[in-house]
Amino acid sequence: MAEQGFGIDVGGSGIKGASVDLTTGALTSEIITIPTPQPATPAAVARTAADLVAQAGWTGPVGVTLPLVVTAGIARTAANVDSSWIGSDTHAVFGAALGGSAVTVLNDADAAGLAEDKFGAGSDVDGVVVLLTFGTGIGSAILFHGQLLPNTEFGHMQVDGMEAEHRAAASVRTKQQLSYKDWAAEVSRVLIAIENLLWPDLFVAGGGISADADQWLHLLTNRTPVVPAKLRNTAGIVGAAMAAETGIRP
Ligand code: BGC
Repeated sequence: MAEQGFGIDVGGSGIKGASVDLTTGALTSEIITIPTPQPATPAAVARTAADLVAQAGWTGPVGVTLPLVVTAGIARTAANVDSSWIGSDTHAVFGAALGGSAVTVLNDADAAGLAEDKFGAGSDVDGVVVLLTFGTGIGSAILFHGQLLPNTEFGHMQVDGMEAEHRAAASVRTKQQLSYKDWAAEVSRVLIAIENLLWPDLFVAGGGISADADQWLHLLTNRTPVVPAKLRNTAGIVGAAMAAETGIRP
């Protein structure tokens, strides 16, 4: 197994990348952040990723996260990113921009789930772990003994007649100026809907709002334990580097 990998996490406002120690999950370089080009088309994002890798001086396999469903390398959705991603061959797009480096592309929440399950909040759990990222939307990942079931999209599940991420994304709390109590009630409805179908052993709550976990986790009323993500803003980078190492191509 390679000792180090490189992960790039593509978000709505920033593209972040760093090298990662694959045996500990620790970053081995500073995070380089470049603003996400607007519009965030495949070509523009891939060029930015290539700039980032060049700045880091990395040569080797690269893992990249995107906030969309990717099956056999093809982007299938584009919630919260430029719609021109849909149908694009993500491996070809990044591979060309990165001068032929081996590139592995996966969903952003799936990457965070891989990293949290191995090195973070899920590492002691011997069962089914569901990670949810609360941000502009809601991302999801299911893991069982380190194996990822890729491309779950619980953020788009209908919960009492409304999409889960329209109820309980972190952005909904900000836009509607909800108190933590009111927002947590919506999060609970989403968690209950998921746990009634999957019976996970643990939920890991990720996304920026997990930094304020002490203000809202205790307000949740679902039955499965919920813990905050541990790796915080590095989970996507670490998970991307892990996926590139294994070459898992969802
Ligand atoms: C997308 C997911 C993504 C999540 C977090 C959702 O809107 O459909 O693919 O993982 O946002 O970025």
